[in-house]
Amino acid sequence: MADERLRLGVNIDHVATLRNARGGALPDPVRAALMAQEAGADGITAHLREDRRHIRDDDIWALMEATSVPLNFEMAATDEMQRIALRHKPHAVCIVPEKREERTTEGGLDVAKDERQLADFITPLRDAGCRVSLFVAADRAQIDSAARIGAAVVELHTGAYCDFVAEGETAKASAELGRLREMSAHAHSLGLEVHAGHGLSYDTVQSVAAFPELRELNIGHFLIGEAVFCGLTEAIAEMRRLMDEARA
Ligand code: PXP
Repeated sequence: MADERLRLGVNIDHVATLRNARGGALPDPVRAALMAQEAGADGITAHLREDRRHIRDDDIWALMEATSVPLNFEMAATDEMQRIALRHKPHAVCIVPEKREERTTEGGLDVAKDERQLADFITPLRDAGCRVSLFVAADRAQIDSAARIGAAVVELHTGAYCDFVAEGETAKASAELGRLREMSAHAHSLGLEVHAGHGLSYDTVQSVAAFPELRELNIGHFLIGEAVFCGLTEAIAEMRRLMDEARA
């Protein structure tokens, strides 16, 4: 299993964050997506937030028009986002929790609590041919619920692990990594495809990439930040190299 090539989805949201800081058209997220594709990204990820703080509606069309790799459309479970997803029919839809006041996606979905609503919500997306993923913490109850409602994928939230590493909380980081590893195996045993993402950097990617069941990582903020110093192509190439090394 570990020899299957781990896919890298590059999240280009924060190119749009920079663009929106000045309100113009530059830097262009589509240009970043094309560059990422050229550099070996297996997919492009973009999160259309309710407040449109980075990606805007027209970016989704433009990304789908311009790129040839699959688009992973991140969205909250709202009627508005469902309508947009059904209009575009991207390759993949990743449902994430969203709070207006948060700086980034802080936790995973509470699939266990909202099981019936989420089941109804994802059915039309699945019927439209979108691969539906649920963004969850490394929590057995959430993963069991995701499997019960027929999600194809769970994306495990690596944010807590990455925060512990950044804060030098070694014991907590190791405990969280253990939970992620265990839940990756558990999700796979239930027939779910396993992805992971949030907060990953060169320092944290390898320990997660080594989970044998993992099929895809979605990485954004670190790569766009690193691109300021070495360019997007080089940042993606180095991430790819680290991922491949971890799988070897
Ligand atoms: N995966 C999901 C579901 C996300 O919501 C995000 C952030 O938008 C990412 C991955 C990428 O996180 P980061 O930008 O911290 O790499």
